[in-house]
Amino acid sequence: MNIKKIQDAQLENKKVLLRVDFNVALENGKVKEKFKIEACKETVRFLLEKNCKVALISHLGRPEGKNNSEFSLQQIVDDVESILGLKVRFISDCISGERENNLENLSQGEIILLENVRFYAGDENNDAEFSEKLAKGFDIFINDAFSASHRDHASVSGVAKLIPSFAGLRLQKEIEEMEKIKNDFSHPAVAIIGGAKIETKLPVIKFFEEKYDNILVGGKIANEALDQKKEFSEKVILPFDFVDDRLDIGPKTLKKFQEIISNAKTIAWNGPTGKFEDEKYAMSSNEILRSVLASGAYTVVGGGETLEILEKNNAQDLIGFVSTGGGAMLDYLGGGEMPGIECLNH
Ligand code: 3PG
Repeated sequence: MNIKKIQDAQLENKKVLLRVDFNVALENGKVKEKFKIEACKETVRFLLEKNCKVALISHLGRPEGKNNSEFSLQQIVDDVESILGLKVRFISDCISGERENNLENLSQGEIILLENVRFYAGDENNDAEFSEKLAKGFDIFINDAFSASHRDHASVSGVAKLIPSFAGLRLQKEIEEMEKIKNDFSHPAVAIIGGAKIETKLPVIKFFEEKYDNILVGGKIANEALDQKKEFSEKVILPFDFVDDRLDIGPKTLKKFQEIISNAKTIAWNGPTGKFEDEKYAMSSNEILRSVLASGAYTVVGGGETLEILEKNNAQDLIGFVSTGGGAMLDYLGGGEMPGIECLNH
């Protein structure tokens, strides 16, 4: 891995801006899924051990450059405190001058959480002046948000051009795992691709067609591929029977998928194979999970919806690696740009 890592940085007593991805689902103002917040824990601990003053920066949702309380990170402060086991000082404007004073007088075991960076359009536009405002007062920038690293945004790649920048421990682990399923895997290797928006999944299907033994396609993308008469090699298996109005794959397709999965040594899985949010059509996704676990294959899973399937079945700890990345995993494997990683290259 040819990127600058925090283990190689001079960190002692430095002021650190740490890009995390706290773009989490909320339910009644509470974090529904802790996983993405837990993902930065090791990096935060590493930095505090080096006596760094740490401010976390993240987006939440898509507030389109406007301050909107619905997307405020203030809502998750209590959850972040309990998940990270640290005191969190919230600053309600991610570029305000308040950041500097607050950084100076942070006590031990205390970190800063800055307000949603997407309250400014400059983030998504990767505006140079906005990046400067973000970087002001910090010695070092660290990206630990693999799941946002396919975005060429100020808080992902813009700041990295201005101050010394490094990959956090989670980002490094995610890259290592992506490289494993990309280049260093055992055959038979099987990809399971589901979810929606066929255009976004075609590059990754193509990648797997070149390298893997079978690609099992389900979910809405399978319907889109069939409707659009997309052509694939025989390695790609599309559903040939369905439940109801193509809301889940049918029993014959499921059986075929399960036979292939049972022989796999490597599995990469992104996206449900049916309309899983409706219990009636979650059958194939749940059954596929059972077969994946029974296969003993080394498995990497990504995507928010796939993660929900794992959670519902209490299977998160039974999978080789669960990626925080949904779109980022697809882009990484499908050969898309990863500005948040490229900017950290030596
Ligand atoms: C995600 O949830 O996949 C990331 O946080 C990226 O979010 P975005 O698609 O809104 O950029």
